[in-house]
Amino acid sequence: MGGSMMVSRTRLNPSLFMSPRPLFRWLHRWLGLFAGLILAIVGGTGAIMSFQDDLLRWMNAGIMQVTVPEGATVLPLPDLLARIQAQKASPPIATLRVSTEPGESAWVGFRARGKPAGEFVNPYTGDLLGKARGEAFFHTVENVHRRLLAGNTGKAITGASALVFLAIMISGVIIRLRRAGLKYWFKPIGHGALAARTQSWHSVMGVWLLVPFLLVTSTGLFWSYDWSRNLWLVATSTPKGKPAPYKMAEVSQSAPDLQAIADRLATLSANRVQIFWPNKPDEAMRVLWQNSATPHQRAFNTLQLQPTTAEILADQPFVSLPFGTQIIRSMFALHSGEYFGLVGMWMMFLVSLSLPLFFISGLWLYLRRRVRPRSKLVKFSKITPDTAPVLVVYASQTGTAQTLAQMTAQRLEAAAQPVLFRSLDELTHAELSAASMALFIVSTYGDGEAPDQAQGVIKSLLGKQQALPTLSFAILALGDRQYRQFCGFGIELRQSLLAAQATECFPMLMADQADPVVLDEWGSQLASVWGGETLTAAAPSPAWILSKRQHLNPAGMGFPTFEIELTATHTMRDEWQAGALIDIVPLQPTERVAQWLHAAGLEGSQRVLFDGVEQPLAEALRHHELPAISAGKPGHDIPTWINTLRRLGARSYSIASLPTDGVVRLLVRQVQTPAGELGIASGWLTAHAPLGEKLTAQLRQNPSFLPMVDPTVPCLFIANGTGMAGIRAQLEARIAVGAKRNWVILGERSPQDAYWLAQWHLWESEGFIERLDWVFSQLPTSGAIRYVQHRLGEAHDSLKEYLEENAVVYVCGSATGMAPAVESVLSNLLGTEGWQAFRRSGRYRRDVY
Ligand SMILES: Cc1cc2nc3c(=O)[nH]c(=O)nc-3n(C[C@H](O)[C@H](O)[C@H](O)COP(=O)(O)OP(=O)(O)OC[C@H]3O[C@@H](n4cnc5c(N)ncnc54)[C@H](O)[C@@H]3O)c2cc1C
Ligand SMILES: Cc1cc2nc3c(=O)[nH]c(=O)nc-3n(C[C@H](O)[C@H](O)[C@H](O)COP(=O)(O)O)c2cc1C
Repeated sequence: MGGSMMVSRTRLNPSLFMSPRPLFRWLHRWLGLFAGLILAIVGGTGAIMSFQDDLLRWMNAGIMQVTVPEGATVLPLPDLLARIQAQKASPPIATLRVSTEPGESAWVGFRARGKPAGEFVNPYTGDLLGKARGEAFFHTVENVHRRLLAGNTGKAITGASALVFLAIMISGVIIRLRRAGLKYWFKPIGHGALAARTQSWHSVMGVWLLVPFLLVTSTGLFWSYDWSRNLWLVATSTPKGKPAPYKMAEVSQSAPDLQAIADRLATLSANRVQIFWPNKPDEAMRVLWQNSATPHQRAFNTLQLQPTTAEILADQPFVSLPFGTQIIRSMFALHSGEYFGLVGMWMMFLVSLSLPLFFISGLWLYLRRRVRPRSKLVKFSKITPDTAPVLVVYASQTGTAQTLAQMTAQRLEAAAQPVLFRSLDELTHAELSAASMALFIVSTYGDGEAPDQAQGVIKSLLGKQQALPTLSFAILALGDRQYRQFCGFGIELRQSLLAAQATECFPMLMADQADPVVLDEWGSQLASVWGGETLTAAAPSPAWILSKRQHLNPAGMGFPTFEIELTATHTMRDEWQAGALIDIVPLQPTERVAQWLHAAGLEGSQRVLFDGVEQPLAEALRHHELPAISAGKPGHDIPTWINTLRRLGARSYSIASLPTDGVVRLLVRQVQTPAGELGIASGWLTAHAPLGEKLTAQLRQNPSFLPMVDPTVPCLFIANGTGMAGIRAQLEARIAVGAKRNWVILGERSPQDAYWLAQWHLWESEGFIERLDWVFSQLPTSGAIRYVQHRLGEAHDSLKEYLEENAVVYVCGSATGMAPAVESVLSNLLGTEGWQAFRRSGRYRRDVY
C-alpha cells in the first residue's frame, strides 16, 4: 500500500491513457437528466400500482368483500346468474369470476361496447354491489404509467425511456468499474460531505437494484416494442400470435347448460374460477381457474368446455405449458414482482419507488456541480507568473505529499516565483484570503479522512462561510484505490474551496499510490506557467543489501514474522530518524513467474525490451503484477503487451533501528493472499529473496511519527504486531537522550509471538521503560480475548496522569481494530473536544497501516 515516488522519465500524455469513463459519465448524466423525469413518473406510478388490489380491497369493504351470512354458502352458478340477470337483464353477461375465499365478492362483466363494464356481486345473495371505489383513479394511474395519458405518443415515450434506462444502467456500471473490494460496490459511505454521501448512496443503490431494474425494464419493454416482444418469444421458444379460440365442430344454438358447467367446475377443486361466455356460436366456453398449486397469482389453468354439455374440449394446466410459454404468460407477474410472491411485490414496490429518488439525487448532484462554480474553471496556463506569493500547502501523513509539496515549492522558486510554504494546519484564514493562487497537495488517511495534523482544519479554515472569490487553486490529491474513499480528503477540500467561491484552475489530479503518470501531469501543469522540467522525486535505488533474515516466532500462533536487516552499499550518515519508513520495490519470485508462463503457454526466454534493456520475458515479468490467466492470454505482440502491465509498486515498512545501529532493521510479517500464496513484498523479503540480494528501496521521513527528544516529556508507546518495529526505533531515540519516562504497551497473540522480548525487558531493567505491559490475546488462561486497548482502558489512572503531564502518545500497528479502539479509550477519557484538541496538538502520533 505504500506509495513509490518514482516519476517516469519518459513524458507520457495522460490523455492516451484516458479510459472511456468520462464519456460514459457524460452519457449517464445527460440521459439521466433527460429521461429521469419520465422514469420517475413511471416508477412512482408503478409503486402506487404495486399494491393496487390490496388497496382497493381495503377501500371497498362491503363491495369487494361481504359478510358471510350465518350458515350460507355461495349460490349455485345457475341461481347466481339468474339473480344477476333479474337485476340487470342487459347487456348480456360476458364473464363471471367467483372465488371460494369466504366473504370474497364475485365479479360479473357485461358485454359492453368500448370499455369492459363490470360489477361486484354478493355471491351469497346474488345482489349487484356496483363498482369498486377508486378503480377510476387506478385506471388513470395505469394510463400514466403506460402512456403518460398521451395515447400512442405517450406509449412511445415510455418505451424509449425504458431503452434509455438500460443505457443509464450500463453507463452507471462502467463508470463505477474499478479494482475494488465488495465494500466499494455494496456499502455506501456513512460519512464525509453530503454530496459525497449522496453520490455514494446513488451509486451503491444502483448496484443493489441492478438486477430488479433489468427485470422490470426488459419485461416493461415487452409491451412497448414488437421487436422486444419478438426477442422474448424467440428467447423462450414461444410461437408468435395469440392462441385462437377453440372452434367446435358441432355448433348448437341452445343456451349453455349452466348446471352441467357448474358440475364440471365442481370437479376442479379450484379456489378461483373465471368463466368466459363464447363470443360466437362455434366457440367453446373458456374457463380460467387456479388452485393452491398454481405458481403465482397471474398463472391460470385453461379449460375449454362445450357450452351445452360441459364436455371438456381442451384442458391446459399452466404447469403443463412449455417453460418458455409459462414465462411469456407470466410477463405481467414478472414485471410486478408477483411471480416471486409477496417478497417480489415488495421488492418491485421499493424498486419503483427508488426511481424518483434516483432522479432527485442525480438532479441535485448535477445542480450542485453547476451552482458550485465548476464552470469558473480557468485555464491554468493563462495565469501569469506573479510577484504575489503563491501558497503551496500540504497535508501529509507519511510524508509523500509533503515531499511533493517541497518539490513543487522548489520548482516555483527556481522560476523566481515567491512562495508561501505551509502545512494545512499552519495555514491561516488571513493567508488564504490574501492569496490569489494556492496549490494544495494532500493525501487521505484513515477511512477517507484528513491526515492527522489536518483533522478538523477544513471546518475551521473554510467552514466560516467566508468567501474566497479572488482565490484560484489547484489540487494534487494522493490516495490509494484500494480504499473505499479514494482521495476522500482531496475531494472534501475541493468541495469546500468551491463552496467558498474559489476558482479551480484545472480538474483535481488524483494519484493512486503516487502514480507517476499523474505526478507527471502535475509537473506539466506547473511547467505551463513556471516552465521547467517535470517533477523528479528521488527514485528508489538498488542501494540496500538484504543481510539478515530471522524467523522470530517459529513456535508462535500468528503468521510467521521475520526480523530483516538491510545494510547500505554506501557509507551511512544520519539518513533517517526514528519513525522513518522504507519503501521497498519487490520482485516476483522466479518460480511464480515460471508457473505463470507455463499456465499462459508462453516462452520465458523470448527477449523483450523493458526499461530500455533487452531481457528475457521471464526476467521482465518479475517487475510486474501478473494478470489473472482467466483475464485472457496475451496476444502475439508480447513486447507491446509487457508495457501494458502494472509495475509492482513499493511497499512501506516501519524502520525499527537508528542509523547508529548501522543497519535498517525491519519487522516483516508474512501476508497471505486469499489463494494461500505469500504477499509479494512480504514473501520476497521473508522467503524468496536470497541473502545478499540488492534491494531497490527508498527511505522516507514520516512527519506524523517524529521522535520526542525532550527527556522531560513522558511518552506512551502502544503497539501491536509488527507495530513494535516503529516503537522500537522511537524508544532507541529516547534512550539516546536519556529519557526514562517511557510507558510501553505491546500486544501480540502469545508469548511465543513477543518479538524482541529480551530487548524490551533489558530496557525495562535498565530503567528506560518505567512501565511495560504485555497483552497476549490468545493466552489459554486469559479467558476473554484481550488487546492493548483493554489494558489501556484498565490503566485509567496512569493514563490520566500521563496525559496531565503532557505526554506524547505513539500508536503503531493495525489501522483497523487496534488504532480506532485506542482512540476511543482516549476520547472517552478526554471528551470529544479534548480529544480533538489533543489530536491537533501534535501529541498524538501514529504509524498505522
Ligand atoms: C506506513 C506503513 C508502514 C508499514 N509497516 C509495516 C511493517 O513494519 N511490517 C510489516 O510487515 N508490514 C508493514 N506495512 C505493510 C506493508 O507495506 C505491506 O502492505 C505488507 O507487507 C503486504 O505487502 P505484500 O506485498 O506482501 O502483500 P500484497 O501482495 O500487496 O498483498 C497480498 C494480499 O494480502 C493482503 N494484505 C496486504 N497487506 C496486508 C496486511 N498488512 N494485513 C493483512 N493483509 C494484507 C492484500 O489485500 C492481498 O490479498 C506497512 C504499511 C504502511 C502503509
Ligand atoms: C492507514 C492508511 C489509510 C489510508 N486511507 C486512505 C483512504 O481512505 N483513501 C485513499 O485514497 N487513500 C488512503 N490511503 C493511502 C494514502 O493516501 C496514500 O498512500 C498516500 O500516497 C499517502 O500520502 P502521505 O505519505 O502524504 O500521507 C491510506 C493509507 C494508509 C497507510
